Parts: sequence; C-alpha cells; structure tokens
Amino acid sequence: MSFLDQLGLTIPLIQAPMAGVSTPALAAAVSNEGALGSIGVGTTDAVGARAMIEEVKARTDRAFNVNLFVHSSAEANPAREAAWLEWLAPLFAEFDAEPPNVLRTIYKSFADDSDMLAMLLDLAPPVVSFHFGLPSPGAIAALRGRGILLLATATSLEEAQAIEVAGIDAIVAQGIEAGGHRGVFDPLGPDDALGTIALTRLLVRETNLPVIAAGGIMDGVGIAAALDLGATAAQLGTAFIACPESAADDAYRTALTGPGAFHTTLTSLISGRPARALANRFTGLAEMVADRLPPDYPIAYDAGKALHAAAKAKGEYGFGAQWAGQGAPLIRTMPAAELVQTLRTELESCRGKLLGKANG
Ligand SMILES: Cc1cc2nc3c(=O)[nH]c(=O)nc-3n(C[C@H](O)[C@H](O)[C@H](O)COP(=O)(O)O)c2cc1C
Repeated sequence: MSFLDQLGLTIPLIQAPMAGVSTPALAAAVSNEGALGSIGVGTTDAVGARAMIEEVKARTDRAFNVNLFVHSSAEANPAREAAWLEWLAPLFAEFDAEPPNVLRTIYKSFADDSDMLAMLLDLAPPVVSFHFGLPSPGAIAALRGRGILLLATATSLEEAQAIEVAGIDAIVAQGIEAGGHRGVFDPLGPDDALGTIALTRLLVRETNLPVIAAGGIMDGVGIAAALDLGATAAQLGTAFIACPESAADDAYRTALTGPGAFHTTLTSLISGRPARALANRFTGLAEMVADRLPPDYPIAYDAGKALHAAAKAKGEYGFGAQWAGQGAPLIRTMPAAELVQTLRTELESCRGKLLGKANG
C-alpha cells in the first residue's frame, strides 16, 4: 500500500510540525482536509504532549503526526555559558534587565525521555516523526510494534542512509531553504547545505524509502515540482504560520507578511543549533560574535528566550525567534482548511488531473 493510502491522505501534503507554532487546532484542521497535520512536542514533556495529542484526537478522526527532537544530550559547560551571558549582558541592560544567573537545559531529548516513549506507546498516534537524529533501536521497534508509522528528517545522504537502516518508514528531505531548525544530526559536523531540489532527487535515487520534500515550498506549483522530482509528498511549514490556528504572535505575523519576509538567514545564536529565521536584531549579532560559540542546544535557547522576553517587555520585538523559510514572501494568510483547499486546487490545475482517494 502506498504511503498516502496507508494514512488515508487525499493530497500529498504534510503540514510541518513546528514546536511552539503549530497547535492541535492547526493540525486537526489540516488533517480534516485530507492532508497530514502535525504537532511538535519537542519543547514540552510527556504530560504536555499527552494533552496536545488528546486535543488533536478530539478534533479529528484522521491521521496526524507527532514530532520529537532527538538531539544528542546537551552538555553543560558553566564557563562557556557564563561567557555567553556576559557577552549578552549589554543587550539585557538596554532593556533594563539582568541576564539569568545560570542557563538551564530547557527541554529533554526524546533519546533521554522514557516518560515520553511510554506515553506514545500508550496513545499510539498514527504517525511519529523525529528531528535532529534517531532514537534507540529499542524505541523504534516498540513504536513500530504499536503500528505507528515513523518519519525522520535528513539533510544529507548519510543521514538518510542511517534513517533507512534504522527501519524508519519515510524520509523528510529538508533542504537548506527550510524555515526553523535544520535537522542535522551533528550541528558541529560538516554541512553541505543541500537545497531541496538536489537533496530530494538524491534521496529518491539513492534510497528505497518514500521521500517527503521540505524547504521553500509554499504553493501547489511547488508541491507539483516536488512530486515531479519523485517525492511522495511535500512538507510545508512556513506556509502555515500565518493561519489563524497557529500560535505565532502578532509581531511574528507582521514581520512575516511584511518586507522583512524577503530576508531570512541561518543562525545558531538564538538556540545553539542552526535554524533559519527572519533577519532581525538577534540574527544581526552574527556580525559581532567573532569565534564565540553559543552554549549547547537548547541551553543557549534559555538565554535567547530570556533576552526576547526582556526586549518584548519594552516593546522591542527584534529578538524573537521568528523562524521562516526562504519562501516566506509567498505566504498567504487564511484559515488552514482554506489553505489546504487552495493548495489542492493549485496542484490539480498544475497536474491537469483530479487528485482523489484512488491517487496514491
Ligand atoms: C516555525 C517553525 C518551527 C519548526 N519546528 C519544527 C519542529 O518542531 N520539528 C521539526 O521536525 N521541524 C520543525 N521545523 C522545520 C519543518 O519541519 C520543515 O522542515 C520546514 O518548515 C520546511 O521548510 P518551509 O518552512 O520553507 O516550508 C520548523 C519550521 C518552522 C518554520
């Protein structure tokens, strides 16, 4: 059975999981239209994730995806963290605030979270996806044993091969254009920064798994292009941020729908891992950072969030983590159901044929 049929999808579209931005209401609205809605639970714990999954289930009977962060455990380094806070101190001072005394590991990797695994095995959501790496073979086998379909992000052929060997069902090919965190397994390792076209084609050619193209895809024409490359589906994140069902705040929406959308940049300064965001005062610090290394992900993010909170309290929104992909200027503001319908119409007119249940 094809990937789409397995999940009962009537359009080859996944709304990307976006921790802190995608909501159960967004995911359910997307799933109810025949695409795959996703929630990102990488920044919450098992209790929070359970509540989110239950809310999606209450809103839809269709398949949905639950996404986890599987980064290597953060290593605390008090000296590096203190130096980072000292460097940021003048910015806090600009907003009459003090930097935090210490930085915390603000959330766990799924690799270290047995409560999260137990909760997933209990609720058995239809799809679970992994970002930043893979969990243990035991966890993968247990989730598969519950009939859960598994996805994982790859940014290179090496990562895709590891995903295939691990027994995952499909690969999300995340190009450099993509908004949010790059799914690289090792953030300090070499990164060829492959674009969505080259990466998708490479993984279609070199692996035996269904490939889901992600990065810079904003409309039905983009989805059609991904399918032409051999992708089974396209995963769109940025396209859904302006939907009223997302959790994006007003400043983020305003920035995303204004001229700033033309300027995205990759930065590790906000969270400690490379991620693509709208250029703002925070990303602009890159010019001053020299060879200073931010603390490990997500320890650096604790500082980033504190600085954003201090600035926001004084009406300065330039330190928010406004993740966005290179396609941001193509964003459209409309309810999620309407966006999926629009994408379907565009894809159909592009492909010159009707997509229906029979189409896998
Ligand atoms: C605001 C935002 C948050 C994201 N959070 C996650 C996440 O929690 N988990 C994940 O696997 N990918 C996350 N991503 C990356 C998406 O899965 C996907 O690769 C990306 O959105 C595709 O590129 P596009 O934004 O250009 O469509 C996020 C992307 C954005 C824009």
